[in-house]
Amino acid sequence: MNRLQLAFALACAAKTAWSLSSHSLKLPMRQTGSTMASLSDSKVIADRLTTAFEEMADSTEFIKRNAHGENLSYTIPAFGNDCMLFFHQSTSSERDLQRGPLISEAPTTSDTSSSDFVITLEGATKDDFGWICHKLYESRRSFDSILDLSNLRQELFFHMNNQPPHPGYDASKAKLAGSDTIRQLFRSTEKDPEMIMNELSSKGFVVLNGPTTSVKSNKNLSSYLQHKTGQSASIRTDTVAFLDRKDASLCGLQDQFDLLMGISSYLNSHFDFEPTGHASLAPATMQHPLTNPSRIQASKYGKGDFYVMHSDNSWAKGEHLTKRKNYRSFTAILYCNDNWSDADGGALRIYSDSTEWESCKDAKPTSDYTDVFPSNGRLVIFDSKLAHSVEKVLTDKERHALTVWILRPTEQSVEGEVVDVPP
Ligand SMILES: *[C@@H]1O[C@H](CO)[C@@H](O)[C@H](O)[C@H]1NC(C)=O
Ligand SMILES: *[C@@H]1O[C@H](CO)[C@@H](O)[C@H](O)[C@H]1NC(C)=O
Ligand SMILES: *[C@@H]1O[C@H](CO)[C@@H](O)[C@H](O)[C@H]1NC(C)=O
Repeated sequence: MNRLQLAFALACAAKTAWSLSSHSLKLPMRQTGSTMASLSDSKVIADRLTTAFEEMADSTEFIKRNAHGENLSYTIPAFGNDCMLFFHQSTSSERDLQRGPLISEAPTTSDTSSSDFVITLEGATKDDFGWICHKLYESRRSFDSILDLSNLRQELFFHMNNQPPHPGYDASKAKLAGSDTIRQLFRSTEKDPEMIMNELSSKGFVVLNGPTTSVKSNKNLSSYLQHKTGQSASIRTDTVAFLDRKDASLCGLQDQFDLLMGISSYLNSHFDFEPTGHASLAPATMQHPLTNPSRIQASKYGKGDFYVMHSDNSWAKGEHLTKRKNYRSFTAILYCNDNWSDADGGALRIYSDSTEWESCKDAKPTSDYTDVFPSNGRLVIFDSKLAHSVEKVLTDKERHALTVWILRPTEQSVEGEVVDVPP
């Protein structure tokens, strides 16, 4: 049992200099029957956990597998830090011996149960760790029969509760201007809130032309934008980075960040959400079920770059098409490209009526679509289930886009547990 070890290494190119450290989370093994899993079970458990974590990695385009071997090794290029992620099982004594200093920083209390699963992310920000916890949480169905995930849920609550702004959450403490900014933006478009919500529910997307916003050639932004995602070059060729609010302000994108983070508040207060049988994840509430991740994604497409047709929340594989891959509910993209003309290409092509497509193979030559060109100040909000592509950029202009995925657990998202929203 002690020999069971899984280690995932996430190595990312060093970009940031501030407060990188290690973060740990302990997940106790579930007891099988009245006794701990016996030695003969450990190989089975190891295999199941390996499979579960591989599924987690496969469920996101941002984790890239490096090599096969005794340990699995992954890269998250979009993080921008050198970070190593280890998943390993150990007994208390072995833990102290092998990885003592790291484990002592674990946020959970010291528990002397003889077998825990420990997740350690080294050389990362707290936010990176939150992102990993979020990905694990989305995939928890794969391994929650083996591990007690209440610590993971707590960690996620901690992480999500620190992500402003959210209705009911003290926005003044969160120092975020999101909701005001988005109201101003929406007021300055030709559409009133009712039209916006009608379009969003009837068509699945809405395009708003707000004031122009500038992505000046910013050295910091170009140093973040160095890496491709884990997907193959036949699928997408853009360069991406995840930016939290601090990163965004170093890149001169704080206003854009706040605006994107305010959209969930706006939708929460203007949209009629059908109730679901699931309590929302904190800090979301039943009345305001949409919530934000901690980061936006910056992307850059150069000449010839593209992203083939895909959905941001397709059906999960291996199910009878009853579950979605993740919690993404709406995708909001803000474009920041001066003087973009249709002849530059790079349109976001959104396919109507594609939310129920089993896969993008369901697209027909006759399928209806709308091209949205990435002009400066243009904001597009769409149902994350809709199939869409980024058409090839045809000229030398750089195409910049900032994206936030607005989250909501529902019956159709990955299996949501019914939880009480903490006070
Ligand atoms: C696999 O991970 C363990 C635990 O972190 C480490 O001791 C071992 O050296 C790693 N093996 C390889 C081949 O990297
Ligand atoms: C770029 O980032 C550095 C810290 O890495 C910061 O000191 C500097 O002010 C940033 N530049 C801009 C233009 O914000
Ligand atoms: C955009 O076009 C205007 C008018 O043609 C020009 O004055 C301006 O410099 C252009 N801006 C950029 C960033 O190319």
